[in-house]
Amino acid sequence: MTTINTIKTNPYTDQKPGTSGLRKKVKVFQQTHYLANFVQSVFNSLETCDGKILVLGGDGRYFNREAIQIIIKLALANGFAKLIIGQGGLLSTPAASHVIRKYKADGGLILSASHNPAGVDEDFGIKYNIFNGGPAPEKYTDAFFQHSLNISEYYLAEIADVDLDNVGSYNIAELEINIIDPVTDYAELMAEIFDFELLKQQLSSGEISLCFDAMHAITGPYAQRILVEMLGAPADSIINAEPLLDFGGGHPDPNLVYAKELADLMFSDAAPDFGAASDGDGDRNMILGNNIFVTPSDSLAIMAANATLIPAYKNGISGIARSMPTSQAPDRVAKAYNLPCFETPTGWKFFGNLLDADKITLCGEESFGTGSNHVREKDGLWAVLFWLNLVAVKKQPVAEIVQAHWQQFGRDIYSRHDYDAVETEIANEIFAHLIKLLPSLPIQVFGQYTVAYADEFCYTDPIDQSVSANQGIRIGFTNGSRIIFRLSGTGTVGATIRIYVERFSDDVSQHKADPQLALAELILLAEQLSELKQRTGRTEPTVIT
Ligand code: G1P
Ligand code: ZN
Repeated sequence: MTTINTIKTNPYTDQKPGTSGLRKKVKVFQQTHYLANFVQSVFNSLETCDGKILVLGGDGRYFNREAIQIIIKLALANGFAKLIIGQGGLLSTPAASHVIRKYKADGGLILSASHNPAGVDEDFGIKYNIFNGGPAPEKYTDAFFQHSLNISEYYLAEIADVDLDNVGSYNIAELEINIIDPVTDYAELMAEIFDFELLKQQLSSGEISLCFDAMHAITGPYAQRILVEMLGAPADSIINAEPLLDFGGGHPDPNLVYAKELADLMFSDAAPDFGAASDGDGDRNMILGNNIFVTPSDSLAIMAANATLIPAYKNGISGIARSMPTSQAPDRVAKAYNLPCFETPTGWKFFGNLLDADKITLCGEESFGTGSNHVREKDGLWAVLFWLNLVAVKKQPVAEIVQAHWQQFGRDIYSRHDYDAVETEIANEIFAHLIKLLPSLPIQVFGQYTVAYADEFCYTDPIDQSVSANQGIRIGFTNGSRIIFRLSGTGTVGATIRIYVERFSDDVSQHKADPQLALAELILLAEQLSELKQRTGRTEPTVIT
């Protein structure tokens, strides 16, 4: 008999999941009982754990292995029947989503702080995904939080640490432990979606040359298996391929600032045809061509417009969804093809119901997230393969595909400005000030911009009618331009203020414009309306994407 210990504990008051699960500094997670409290709260909020199957894996960052050992002991003590764990404790977020679906698990715990830096002084995170493979919707995460505020004990099995490094299946007491290769199931799924034969021809012959930046995070082994071993791309097509506990000290966020090595290459004379990067846990993507960067909003629109060229979507797509701050480029495609188009709050969890109900096939966010109904997470390598497949079929460089798209649909010039680590009190004051301003804004004229509406975004889920209020401030103009303000829900230090600006142009001469210049008037207006610079004392954003 395995001994199950009841451990007395006290609640922590800060275990409220954010945009994407609970994210804190590693040192916070290492406090006595902290991780166990949260996991037990998740388990307590489930109807029962008895006989259930749970998937477990993470992005391999510092504290991943330790956390997995603690969770195994909690899962056994709480009555789970089976744990499916990625070898080495690894599973990319989209792979975890797929494994939950494929093996009909009841849910999964994914250990990751996504693109946040890793290491002893950096970030860790944990989130629960439900049976459909998607992040737990708010009614679940609210329940986790409530349980965490009332917890008084948790249950821990007294067993030795489990060997995570050998694939295989065995039992510890009544619990079946199944250690799986983290890549195999995912790679098989990709081969079902895309034209691997065509890709193999063009990647192995050098007809398409590529550089994929794994940023020393989880996608290294996935890219190695799929792009190199299965599709024949040269081994040196992958850079920063080795996953490291601290992601090499970098910030594994695939954008032009943090994936600088790749960006520099793609804008040089030595640029290959195609460039891409993914983030810490493999769900984000950045797409580049020779001397061109594709904004995530445009990427979603272009994918939607060309979806029927990809084997899995050859019969068409049912609809598109984008998060509210994502540009309106996908809406133009939806309109042209007579497809339903949904605007959801920020965070992948809001796409789950629409995908399950087959209201949409493709969805995406401006924050380098794109995905489809193949899993219930955004998926970095899927997006890379989608673009490669497009380039291979169209036999056109990325830049030509993008310019042809703008010619047909017009261009939504877009940029996001982030102000990181603002004092929480000041950030709250800025938002209070903006909210007070909203009613007075409509029909005011600012230069060439007339305000059409100004509100706080509130979403009613069309499937279950659940309401999510306070999802960001929208100021829309009569010419379709927008300014959006949001507070980040994933930061771990102070508050991060995000300002999103976009302007539509169907003037072809604007199609080469630098977004910062083309948007200068709107950016200035956003700063003036929010009084951001005076109130924070900042002179410029931390990151511009
Ligand atoms: C950020 C992104 C959001 C994404 C989330 C998780 O959240 O903006 O689109 O879903 O990371 O990857 P935020 O920090 O803005 O709340
Ligand atoms: Zn991520």
